[in-house]
Amino acid sequence: MKETDYAEIVTPLLAWYGEHARELPWRETADPYRIWVSEIMLQQTRVEAVKGYYERFISALPDVGALAHCPEEKLLKLWEGLGYYSRVKNLQKAAQNIMDEWGGKLPADHEALLKLPGIGPYTAAAIASIAFGIPRAVVDGNVLRVCTRLTANDTDITDPAFRRQIAASLDDVIPKDAPGTFNQAMMDLGAVICTPNGTPQCALCPLRDLCKAHQAGEELSYPVRSKGKARKIEKMTVFLLRDSDRYAIRKRKEPGLLSGFYELPHTAGWLDEEAAVIYLMTIPVDPMHISRIEDAKHIFTHKEWHMIAYEVRIAAGSGEQCPDLVFASAKELKQTYPLPSAFAVYKKHIGL
Ligand code: ADE
Repeated sequence: MKETDYAEIVTPLLAWYGEHARELPWRETADPYRIWVSEIMLQQTRVEAVKGYYERFISALPDVGALAHCPEEKLLKLWEGLGYYSRVKNLQKAAQNIMDEWGGKLPADHEALLKLPGIGPYTAAAIASIAFGIPRAVVDGNVLRVCTRLTANDTDITDPAFRRQIAASLDDVIPKDAPGTFNQAMMDLGAVICTPNGTPQCALCPLRDLCKAHQAGEELSYPVRSKGKARKIEKMTVFLLRDSDRYAIRKRKEPGLLSGFYELPHTAGWLDEEAAVIYLMTIPVDPMHISRIEDAKHIFTHKEWHMIAYEVRIAAGSGEQCPDLVFASAKELKQTYPLPSAFAVYKKHIGL
């Protein structure tokens, strides 16, 4: 297939989607608010991981007003574990903006959606098409994979100009009477048939007769992507400090990454046991028993945390002098304090 021939995919794609669309909770609603929340959750996150979060979030915050007025800790708790927390902060900022400027209703306008915090070209096109029937094509990794395979195009997909070119080509052919269906069909085809890892399911693909990569037996050669910069590695030592049955946490001070969250106390570098005890005495707490527990790694977009950790019993009351520490029971940690999943391995130790 040539770049100019995308019109040919519309009919077979929609017919396939009619039979094989995934049943997803946000496809059972026409409410723009719900569709918006689902699209923000689905940025950088797999459908399976989103489902439960979506239902819980919508029950707790059923409309734009509830989101706009939600206290930060409750909001982060609802998002805890999904990662990329700037998404939920922007979601709330946008909700406040929609209350102030749009009478509490999402604007049915692609350009106005694009101006809201957290809504980039993909999400604006997704909401515009699915919630409002506006014919704008979504372009993400899934769609780029489908398109570069269809046309055997080896242009680097990280090139923004190439993305814009694909978006413009798809905008030309997206059906005016079913833009949301077309976009979601492309998403499902990319997620279920034209898959990124392992073998794509070409035998089941409605577009295989149009697909240049398939004709050449070279599906796996596309898409082509230049390698990004290596992530920065941060070594750290994490402490699971407990007195009798309470654990120490502290509110994160660093602006940006994970701001607003609580965290387990930690310090830069990998400290051996002796250095760890000396560090703890400077906080100050009074360590009575210390034991090394398992190592953990967490990968963010631009950095990796490589963690070693100690579980430490401290003398009762010795942490009371640390202004930064909050001592909380496992139950309080579960219900009240947002602790990011970067600490998942250690949260398991506490039974969270
Ligand atoms: N990924 C992003 N948006 C989606 C949607 N509406 N359905 C399925 N997967 C998606």
